[in-house]
Amino acid sequence: MTTIENGSGTRELAGKRALVTGGSRGIGAAIVRQLLDAGAEVLTTARSATSTVPEGATFVAADVRSRAGAEAVAAAAHETFGGVDILVHNAGGAQFHRSALAIPDEEWQDSLDLNFLASVRLNALLAPGMRDRRSGAIVHVSTAAVVPPAPIVLHYQAAKVALENYSRGLAAELAPSGVRVNTVSPGRTATPGGEATRKKWASLDLGPGATDTPPLGRDGQPDDIAHAVLFFVSDRASWLTGQVLVVDGGEYPRG
Ligand SMILES: NC(=O)c1ccc[n+]([C@@H]2O[C@H](COP(=O)([O-])OP(=O)(O)OC[C@H]3O[C@@H](n4cnc5c(N)ncnc54)[C@H](OP(=O)(O)O)[C@@H]3O)[C@@H](O)[C@H]2O)c1
Repeated sequence: MTTIENGSGTRELAGKRALVTGGSRGIGAAIVRQLLDAGAEVLTTARSATSTVPEGATFVAADVRSRAGAEAVAAAAHETFGGVDILVHNAGGAQFHRSALAIPDEEWQDSLDLNFLASVRLNALLAPGMRDRRSGAIVHVSTAAVVPPAPIVLHYQAAKVALENYSRGLAAELAPSGVRVNTVSPGRTATPGGEATRKKWASLDLGPGATDTPPLGRDGQPDDIAHAVLFFVSDRASWLTGQVLVVDGGEYPRG
């Protein structure tokens, strides 16, 4: 276990209550583990529990695509902790299609619900508590691959672009109360979801992109992304809000 301590020898996030969506595997599980290692209490959620939910975290099964799912997660956060100090919106993903026009209506809705509206709803339920306590940190997990536009995943990109813009707007609204809101945008990361996506890309024979190695010479690991999230929720980022940090081995430079 990595122990992250502050200057007085206490773990950096001791006393903090954190909620992470999609913490049963991949990037979310790494975020949960790093938060626990830093001393936070962690509640996490996914549609079903797995053996890869990190030990020490409290788990609640919920589908965050619906208003009812968001309410169940928020209620669990209130019951378990009485509120949260750290909120990480990590659950996300989408299927690829051969063309933008072939993306079915229900998948557009599904993608918007999972990759955008789940965060909007959960924030509406939990961020007012942060605002009232005049402290808190929210991180949205987007994707480095929002540019250039890719027709086969426009439903995913549109939702993540909306999420990044919303994140900046929420940061502006909550800044006067001391609540910080930032975005981490991963590049290709070795997770079950990421691997499945790249396999599907390869099977559609769409050319390079899924098979390129990022300029830094390797794919990301879940911990690479979790480090960035941990930075944003820690006091080391106490003067940072409304930012988007792209963590992608140099693959998607934003001008
Ligand atoms: N890996 C990459 O290369 C990559 C690149 C760019 C961005 N990202 C972003 O990083 C985040 C994490 O990706 P990942 O690769 O770690 O994904 P992953 O391996 O597919 O894991 C996704 C997690 O979210 C949960 N989840 C999915 N749908 C859910 C729902 N409707 N309600 C509640 N939980 C749900 C999953 O559990 P259940 O399935 O049991 O619900 C799982 O715990 C996503 O937002 C993704 O868009 C990943």
